[in-house]
Amino acid sequence: MDTEEWSGSTSLDKTANQLAEEIGLTEEEIAWRKAFVGFDTEEQERMTRLGDVVSEEKEQLTDAFLETIYAHDRTRAVVDRSSQGDDGLRRVVETYLETLTGGTYDTEYYTQRCRIGRIHDQLDLPLHHFSGMFGNVTTLFLEEIKANTIETARNAAESDGPDAVEAAIEEGFADAMATTRCINLEMQVVNDTYESRRRELREAINLIPDPIFELTSSRA
Ligand code: HEM
Repeated sequence: MDTEEWSGSTSLDKTANQLAEEIGLTEEEIAWRKAFVGFDTEEQERMTRLGDVVSEEKEQLTDAFLETIYAHDRTRAVVDRSSQGDDGLRRVVETYLETLTGGTYDTEYYTQRCRIGRIHDQLDLPLHHFSGMFGNVTTLFLEEIKANTIETARNAAESDGPDAVEAAIEEGFADAMATTRCINLEMQVVNDTYESRRRELREAINLIPDPIFELTSSRA
């Protein structure tokens, strides 16, 4: 193939809209993904209610998010490659947690999520670090849900009896499931954007002429 066919454009140069279109993130596709993992309207409302926890605990949650990244040389090195300072990164994490529990999980929401994968790919953050971090974020939420569930269940045990304790435990598990599903959908979009970048790089490599082949065919 001719090198002139290669535009030089990679996913790093693309807008969130272009990426979403490329990976086929249409309204129907998003609806299918939500249905597949069971992230329904009730679960979305649960995430919105968890937004209160994020508002109350924003500082601690942001600290815990960043602590893991700063505590490991490999992830610290990725941060050092970015022009974002510590304060900038704090704001990034705060905004992320707010939008994660913002209650709107529509096409626009997931389109903007494409930007997240693209930016980390640009920083050469390996995909498995990303998956690990999504696991850590899930755990942060689970810790909060656990604390709230224990408190509600204790109060129920003192005043309302076993049925109320059972209801408190069920509520806690339902919040935990909503969180797991919501974060799983985030990870799916990141996977897609990483994959799309690999595809583009492979295409770019195929467009580079093979010098040995060029030499032998010109002599033939
Ligand atoms: C759950 C996983 C993660 C999420 C949800 C997340 C979320 C985000 C978001 C929303 C942004 C801002 C993107 C934008 O400007 O539009 C960002 C930027 C950034 N993230 Fe993450 N992140 C994650 C994991 C990580 C990890 C593991 C590292 C470090 C190794 C990291 C380092 C950074 C850096 C350095 C930036 C700033 C990029 C720049 O503007 O130069 N992130 N992240």
